[in-house]
Amino acid sequence: MLRTHNCGELRLEHAGQQVTLCGWVDTYRDHKGVLFVDLRDRYGKTQVVFSPNPQLSEPNEQDERLMATARSLRSEYVLRVKGIVERRPEGTENTKLATGQIEVRAWDCEILNRSLTPPFMPNTQDLPGEDVRLKYRYLDLRRPQMQQTLLLRHRMIKLMRDYSDSKGFIEVETPMLGRSTPEGARDYLVPSRVQKGSFYALPQSPQLYKQILMVAGYDRYVQIARCFRDEDLRADRQPEFTQLDLEMSFVEANDVMAVVEGLMERLFREVLGIPLTLPLPRMTYDEAMERFGHDAPDLRFAMELIDITDIARQCDFRVFREAAENGRRVRGINASGAAPGYSRKNLDDLTEWLKQDFGVKGLVWFKVEADGKLSSPTAKNFSESHLQRIAERLAARPGDLLLFVADAFDVTCRALYGLRKMFGAELRLYDPSAMNLSWVIEFPMFAVDEETGGWTAMHHPFTSPRPQDRHLLRENPAKCRAQAYDLVLNGSEVGGGTIRIHDQELQQEVFRLIGLDADRARDRFGFLLEALQYGAPPHGGIALGVDRLVAIFAGADSIRDCIAFPKTQRAVDLMTGAPGEVDAKQLKELGIRGEK
Ligand code: AMO
Ligand code: AMP
Repeated sequence: MLRTHNCGELRLEHAGQQVTLCGWVDTYRDHKGVLFVDLRDRYGKTQVVFSPNPQLSEPNEQDERLMATARSLRSEYVLRVKGIVERRPEGTENTKLATGQIEVRAWDCEILNRSLTPPFMPNTQDLPGEDVRLKYRYLDLRRPQMQQTLLLRHRMIKLMRDYSDSKGFIEVETPMLGRSTPEGARDYLVPSRVQKGSFYALPQSPQLYKQILMVAGYDRYVQIARCFRDEDLRADRQPEFTQLDLEMSFVEANDVMAVVEGLMERLFREVLGIPLTLPLPRMTYDEAMERFGHDAPDLRFAMELIDITDIARQCDFRVFREAAENGRRVRGINASGAAPGYSRKNLDDLTEWLKQDFGVKGLVWFKVEADGKLSSPTAKNFSESHLQRIAERLAARPGDLLLFVADAFDVTCRALYGLRKMFGAELRLYDPSAMNLSWVIEFPMFAVDEETGGWTAMHHPFTSPRPQDRHLLRENPAKCRAQAYDLVLNGSEVGGGTIRIHDQELQQEVFRLIGLDADRARDRFGFLLEALQYGAPPHGGIALGVDRLVAIFAGADSIRDCIAFPKTQRAVDLMTGAPGEVDAKQLKELGIRGEK
């Protein structure tokens, strides 16, 4: 070992000891010929003092060499310092630092390595743009905050492993080079050299392998699994990300949910020190869409979506009345107290934003005046009594801002969800450190595929319908509900799972419904259909998004801050330059023409 201690562990009780520390120069100050260096490693910082030995009447050679070395030090140099631990002179202690009672008086300093002047200092409060942080990720990762986050991630993953081990789950690794599994995104493909023209797909999830493991009798499977999805990236989506992937045999939805609840209880208690009351609240998908306009509602605050279609049907305002008469919905929210902060111009901008981003045709808003009356340019189209009913329905009080959209149910959901989210943050309706965890259940089996107009699986096509809904597969697929459950934390989907289909015929039926005829189903999923015929047990499972969980636990804005080497929104690794070009020879071997 090059060191006797790390930079975070020396205390008063070590005073008088000879120690050797290694670390990076965090800061250095020259105070009338005495040099103070804060030496940093991932454990903390220790102040090192370089001063000429006061006991010598004239400086000796070793002393001069030491001081010359000290004067040559720059930020981020890597040092090995030998010295003696001393109590800091009274009045110079640093209570913010764990090692702030002591300092190390150096008698030897070896520069293990130098550093160029870094583009930013790991101790800066003033961070550069994310591009610079990602390009020099090794400097960014030296920042104590990043180190704490990665440590938190390590602890959470360790707890997940320990917990699942204690519940009898065994970890099995599934292939990275496999066949494409539909989780709704594009695949990352890997060309085969030996089978020219054939491709492996990197797994979007280990879904089919884990189901096959159930057929094989493994009963309780777990994996900290890397998944790859070529989809539009956002703050909570990376092209490669990590799941805590679980699968269990001979279970119902409640059993899988109970296992996850037990894990969350431990994570909350041991990592955050927050007690979690179990069982967690549950809400059906239909209720979530009705009350919050989204299947992952942020339940830290109320501001629910309120339906006024019945009032709209009777009112004189043509836009509302026609919408109601034509099976569309008129819904709104009460942004309580927001009226004074919103000028006409602000509201026009808001309307434009909703038109652009959510495809609404317009926005009707009312400000609630001091006398409780609703005012707006559109108010003249409504009778007094209708205005009053609207105000009552939304529990309007002076200063409130009421906003309404008349459109197809989906459009009102998206637009009002967007407004609710924006106002929730803007009006500070929740404590940012609050945690709200719940389940959303009974998702529809199918959604309409926007490209083909046909059905597509809402989760994935291996999801089982509720037993009582099975007949709806034939009669009314839109109404058919799945044995599906999503875990939602603060408005973010942090997990999703389902009870699977273990019956080959039912699986074929669902494939047919999503437009996979028998031939195509056999071609893509023949191995699954076959396996289901060799004694597949009833089974189900779930996958939790590890990066998202860590980000929320860490209070980070983006999952990029919880991944050591993440990619940008354009799926580029700015440090290594991946994806990069490859040799023509490599392409030729793979039978690929490199076209841009
Ligand atoms: P699903 O697709 O819902 O389910 O994924 C499970 C969880 O993974 C997280 N997640 C992501 N995190 C970061 N970046 C992404 N691009 C990304 N995509 C998903 C989410 C999500 O809830 N095989 C099924 C699980 C199952 O049925 O057992 C699956 O993958 O937090
Ligand atoms: P118009 O009749 O199109 O001039 O619209 C009158 C007012 O109603 C404007 O303020 C529009 O923004 C609003 N509006 C129009 N269509 C809708 C709609 N579908 N939902 C909510 N407001 C609308």
